[in-house]
Amino acid sequence: MQNKIALVTGASRGIGAATGKLLATQGYAVCVNYQYNKTAADEVVQHIKAHGGQAIAYQADVSCESQVIDLFNFVDTELGTITHLVNNVGILLPQSKLIDMDAQRINLILTTNVTSYFICCRAAIKRMQSGSAIVNVSSGAARSGSPNEYIDYAASKGAVDTLTKGLSLEVAAQGIRVNGVRPGFIHTDIHADGGEPGRIARLSPQVPMQRGGKPEEVAEAIAWLLSDAASYVTGSTIDVTGGK
Ligand SMILES: NC(=O)c1ccc[n+]([C@@H]2O[C@H](COP(=O)([O-])OP(=O)(O)OC[C@H]3O[C@@H](n4cnc5c(N)ncnc54)[C@H](OP(=O)(O)O)[C@@H]3O)[C@@H](O)[C@H]2O)c1
Repeated sequence: MQNKIALVTGASRGIGAATGKLLATQGYAVCVNYQYNKTAADEVVQHIKAHGGQAIAYQADVSCESQVIDLFNFVDTELGTITHLVNNVGILLPQSKLIDMDAQRINLILTTNVTSYFICCRAAIKRMQSGSAIVNVSSGAARSGSPNEYIDYAASKGAVDTLTKGLSLEVAAQGIRVNGVRPGFIHTDIHADGGEPGRIARLSPQVPMQRGGKPEEVAEAIAWLLSDAASYVTGSTIDVTGGK
């Protein structure tokens, strides 16, 4: 496919930043979406440009429908019609048992981690042609359920897996592929947001490969699923979990 144009949501740091940088090396023009950290998003764009790629940053809260509409219109205008989407945004809130979770917290998790994926998929498939692809970033938590930490987050990722399966079947005949990745314990700042910056070190002994993963290792799986090398893969979600 010529003129590959990718939007990566939540790309100012972590897995999203690694994915944006990798896709740029593979010839994609990349929109780096972020919510708050303009400096970090601009650094991702500068990194891509310094390595000969094309990128542009755009601030939007992707859980807000009107901001998603503006984001996709911006991509249309500045880069061209989107061909590839990575729904990567995801948040955790401080570790808690379900008995202590209120509806405000649960709804924030669901709108950020699930509603955003639905409305970004909708905006993308309205524009996409045959040969386009979407990757939804889920989590190993969808399988574990994350008891005593964040069942709300785990359940949001279960919903992402179901979205991936259902949408892949709706658009398969149009030649649009929809897949997912389930990262395991990956070294990013998300764990500090959950209240435990050292979480990966604590949990690494439980991982068959005995270590946490790097954002770049998840980015490789995302890039493969987006690529024509995965042209007969749809409705699949790949575990990137070191065997856990
Ligand atoms: N790290 C792990 O161990 C792990 C494991 C399994 C799954 N995952 C999943 O992988 C994905 C990326 O995780 P990560 O660890 O790389 O996260 P991260 O380091 O916390 O980065 C989150 C990114 O999302 C952006 N963001 C948050 N809310 C947003 C919103 N409403 N609108 C737009 N952007 C928003 C942040 O932007 P600003 O900083 O600019 O606000 C940031 O760029 C998430 O879906 C996560 O659930 C991660």
